[in-house]
Amino acid sequence: MKSGVNGLPFVDVRHPSGASLQVYLHGAHAVSWKNSAGRELLFTSAESVFKPGFPIRGGIPVIFPQFGDGPLPKHGLARINEWTFCGSGTNAAGAVEAGFALTDNPSTLELWPHCFRLELYFRLAAMELAIVFSVGNTGPDEFTFHNGLHTYFALADISRAGVSGLQGAEFIDFVGTRKPERETRGLIAFDRETDRVYPMAPDKVELNDEGNGRRMEINKSGMNDLVIWNPWIEKSRRMEDFGNEEYKKMLCVETGNLRSPVRLAPGAVRESATILRCMDS
Ligand code: BG6
Repeated sequence: MKSGVNGLPFVDVRHPSGASLQVYLHGAHAVSWKNSAGRELLFTSAESVFKPGFPIRGGIPVIFPQFGDGPLPKHGLARINEWTFCGSGTNAAGAVEAGFALTDNPSTLELWPHCFRLELYFRLAAMELAIVFSVGNTGPDEFTFHNGLHTYFALADISRAGVSGLQGAEFIDFVGTRKPERETRGLIAFDRETDRVYPMAPDKVELNDEGNGRRMEINKSGMNDLVIWNPWIEKSRRMEDFGNEEYKKMLCVETGNLRSPVRLAPGAVRESATILRCMDS
């Protein structure tokens, strides 16, 4: 364990290829992922707060049990609670694994009256990061939840980036009609604020970061939905923990069960995963 910004502890995961990952216990929040060529693949804001009770801006925020606004703090409890490090090791395929867990505690129970155990496993390889997200219901009653990974990808330039793999998929535009529409574009480009959920989205999409000459394959399983988000100019100015110009350097492609809540019976465990594959160094 190392001491990070404001003394918050983080786990420094290293793969023999040179790839690395930094995960704060605060939120089990990955703030840096570098591939074997040493290139940073995640965006983390220079303005981010690193403070108990507040989410980190950038990296991979963990969403549970609520996506977006609602009765709980925005995007839920997981990203503002302190997780436990469960250990690390090398698996049979040579990937370095690091596990984190969060269970209900008096502060979560005050906000959300359910007993749960979340486990998050990061598996780091030379050009790949797999994240397995398990949700267990350890209480006596059924509950429903959203869960997801709100990944901020680092880009050279948003105006030269695009997402492919969603043509024909249904989406709801939160800064548009808010009614179901159908994606017509083979390559989604960005020139304005974007905040869209693609319910029941295809499991594989690709992010093309042309400015860096890099493509990122995003594969999800057990996660139904995808969100694409960039705050653009006005919203960036309104966000206190985000630089005015930083929208140019990031895109969130979020994977998870973010639309229809998942039901979980007492004693049941639901596993889902996202695998990020960097296609070029
Ligand atoms: C996205 C939402 O998932 O997260 C956006 O669709 C929201 O509406 C964004 O603005 C960031 O949320 P937050 O709470 O981290 O500022």
